[in-house]
Amino acid sequence: MSAELEISAAELDKVRNLIYKESGMLFPTKKNYFIANRIGQRIKSVNAKDFREYYHRLLVDSDEMQNFLEELTVNETYFFRDFPQLQGFAEILLPKYLEKKRQVNDYLLRLWSAACSTGEEPYTLAIILREMIEDFDRWNIQIDATDIDRRVLRHAKIGLYSDRSMKDTPIPYRNKYFKRTPDGWQILPVIAEMVNFEQLNLIDRMAMRRRRNYDFIFCRNVLIYFDDTSRKRVVMALYDALVPGGYLFLGHAESVGRITAAFHLERLGDFLCYKRPEI
Ligand SMILES: C[S@@+](CC[C@H](N)C(=O)[O-])C[C@H]1O[C@@H](n2cnc3c(N)ncnc32)[C@H](O)[C@@H]1O
Repeated sequence: MSAELEISAAELDKVRNLIYKESGMLFPTKKNYFIANRIGQRIKSVNAKDFREYYHRLLVDSDEMQNFLEELTVNETYFFRDFPQLQGFAEILLPKYLEKKRQVNDYLLRLWSAACSTGEEPYTLAIILREMIEDFDRWNIQIDATDIDRRVLRHAKIGLYSDRSMKDTPIPYRNKYFKRTPDGWQILPVIAEMVNFEQLNLIDRMAMRRRRNYDFIFCRNVLIYFDDTSRKRVVMALYDALVPGGYLFLGHAESVGRITAAFHLERLGDFLCYKRPEI
């Protein structure tokens, strides 16, 4: 009998609560089979005797907790995801925003991709900035990219992508910023060097407090895995991480309307973005 079949529903509840406490991800009970399966895999990897021994290990061994969370994250992403939203950002919001900064001689621009997965999102932002900013060389552009999952960050730093990741990438950009290799599409250094990757858990209060003064934060397609309580906690931390007048972008299925009135909503075509008021 496999290890996962020996886990009771009550034990799985305990694990779901632990996952929630450690990551903000709230798995519904209908995902019990998926969680049990991942526990079974980890039990084998660490040679634990049974569920009880493994659960105890999760409580005392933060490395194993991290390994376990990495088995649970959904890392689906691709370049130029939600193209119309990015187009609104690139063609409507960004030019206005940069013009305001130029007027006060402020040439620092800071972006954060706050659940970056394998790197497609922050590299997409880097390509957009390179393409859209005529006086690009005058700007000090900083793009931070973070994720809870160390495996995806390793992939992001290597910067090698499948055809699937590239499916929405405009061909001129693909030809300009990637090199075709037998193993896939390699992002070129001119873009790779613009992005700084680091591990960060969005519900880690201390780590979030250190993030400040971003002009644009992209936190897309991660809050769908959270409940309203952890969502609110993250969104308020992102609010604090923005400069007054800075913008938050969420995934198309996500909204902050129900959880806070702190932001001003702005429409970009069919998309909403969330502005931290100027004062
Ligand atoms: C579906 S991907 C989204 C990637 C990209 N933002 C996009 O929209 O294509 C969700 C990412 O959120 C990350 N994640 C989940 N919980 C997290 C947490 N508590 N802190 C930071 N990242 C988290 C996962 O590891 C995963 O890589």
